[in-house]
Amino acid sequence: MKVYHTRDSRRWLGLGLAAGAAAGFFFWLWQRTRPRRPLPAAGEQRGTALITGASSGIGEAFAHRLAREGYRLLLVARRQERLAALAETLQAQYGVAAEAVVADLADPAAVEALAQRIAACPDLTLLVNNAGFGLTGRFAEGDAAHQLAMIQVHMAATVRLTRAALPGMLARGNGALINVSSVAAFMPTGGNILYTTTKNALNTFSLTLAEELRGTGVQVQALCPGFTYTEFHDTQGTGRPALPSFLWMTAEAVVEYALRDLQRGQVLSIPGWINRLIVTLTRALPPRLFRLGATAVLSPARRQAGVPAFKKRTYRSWDEFRADLQWMQAHRGEVRAAMQQLTPAFRERLMLAVTAVNGCRYCSYYHSRLALEGGLSQDEINALLAGVCEDCPAEELPAILYAQHWADTGGQPDPEAQARLLATYGPEAAAAIEVALRMIRMGNYAGNAVDALLYWLSGGRWGS
Ligand SMILES: NC(=O)c1ccc[n+]([C@@H]2O[C@H](COP(=O)([O-])OP(=O)(O)OC[C@H]3O[C@@H](n4cnc5c(N)ncnc54)[C@H](OP(=O)(O)O)[C@@H]3O)[C@@H](O)[C@H]2O)c1
Repeated sequence: MKVYHTRDSRRWLGLGLAAGAAAGFFFWLWQRTRPRRPLPAAGEQRGTALITGASSGIGEAFAHRLAREGYRLLLVARRQERLAALAETLQAQYGVAAEAVVADLADPAAVEALAQRIAACPDLTLLVNNAGFGLTGRFAEGDAAHQLAMIQVHMAATVRLTRAALPGMLARGNGALINVSSVAAFMPTGGNILYTTTKNALNTFSLTLAEELRGTGVQVQALCPGFTYTEFHDTQGTGRPALPSFLWMTAEAVVEYALRDLQRGQVLSIPGWINRLIVTLTRALPPRLFRLGATAVLSPARRQAGVPAFKKRTYRSWDEFRADLQWMQAHRGEVRAAMQQLTPAFRERLMLAVTAVNGCRYCSYYHSRLALEGGLSQDEINALLAGVCEDCPAEELPAILYAQHWADTGGQPDPEAQARLLATYGPEAAAAIEVALRMIRMGNYAGNAVDALLYWLSGGRWGS
């Protein structure tokens, strides 16, 4: 049997990672630079776009965006006043014709009437099947009429309207169909069965139709947003779940992703890297394991039971995290020099003092060990992690107290405290301490972000 030397396997691992990174980079470059298709049009004109569920949320955002592109709009939903007000705004703001078409898509007769209207439209270039709603609770206890209405609105109406739109688009050799699905389509969780089923069916419908339409000039997209700030959760009757903000997107951002992916010719469009990551993980997990975990943890019934908000300090948005990363990249040399200015024991005392305020358990474990190696006693480490600094050397005490205050104020210290630090240590050491504190906070917040994710995934059982 061949025995591999550790150094060999490390080299192969390194090569593998480098090859993966290079492949990822070239894929990213190719995605960014490949030519984009123009949005669908009817000859010189943009033509007409019909949007179902245009009275709020993602549909309304589509209406604004497509009006800006110059499409004539047919806005479909049940709430007449909302549609009329939107049509008026679009006409005034973008100078395009917009018409409110009131229809309840749960009613097959209304869908048929709309299908006739579509078939008679001479320049329908874009159909956005977006109308939809959520249902929660166990299937066996749900309202049967409501369940059938969901199949009708999500699936039957989409199929019928698509069938009505296609002949004209195929004859012109130009057009696009956007079917608004959901990341839920990939998650076979309980408590949400018909929503998952209909959205999953929409994905299959779109993917298979795209195969049939290959080379015809007519595009299909299954748009799968994740949590989006709209009226969806209010209509569903659950209110917005208390989830970290990095899991949410605006309706406008979802629409931008959809149109960008349409121009790239992508059939499955999953807006946002976090949603793509969730879908990738969902697909990678063995289905039984996923079903067990997700049904127990993520089902709306469980969420409805209520999970208190995650309490530790962490990044509240992707932008905050990115700002810290950019800061670190820009000050790399400064950070290294600052760390070298402080003795290991001093560094670890600062680390533990800040970590005690931010409560990052990973940083506490790791730096307790480093602090022991740096010469601190176990008692002193425990005391620092409890926010007590009685055993600290007198010359370090002002900096440790400042570090606690700095962390407490989320990195916005009182100018007086800052001036005292400067007077005590001088400009160079004070600047080094400030840099070290920011680095420590980054580590704490990143550790807590992992916990926030665990907390959310486990419905409040892990990560607190
Ligand atoms: N928000 C999210 O987190 C999220 C995530 C993934 C996917 N989605 C999907 O995105 C789509 C749009 O939802 P949204 O988030 O924008 O929610 P929303 O703000 O509640 O909008 C839903 C739209 O659908 C229309 N609609 C509902 N039932 C209808 C019916 N029977 N007939 C005609 N129109 C109907 C509503 O208009 P009227 O009430 O005026 O009829 C409204 O315009 C849905 O398909 C939803 O499944 C949403």
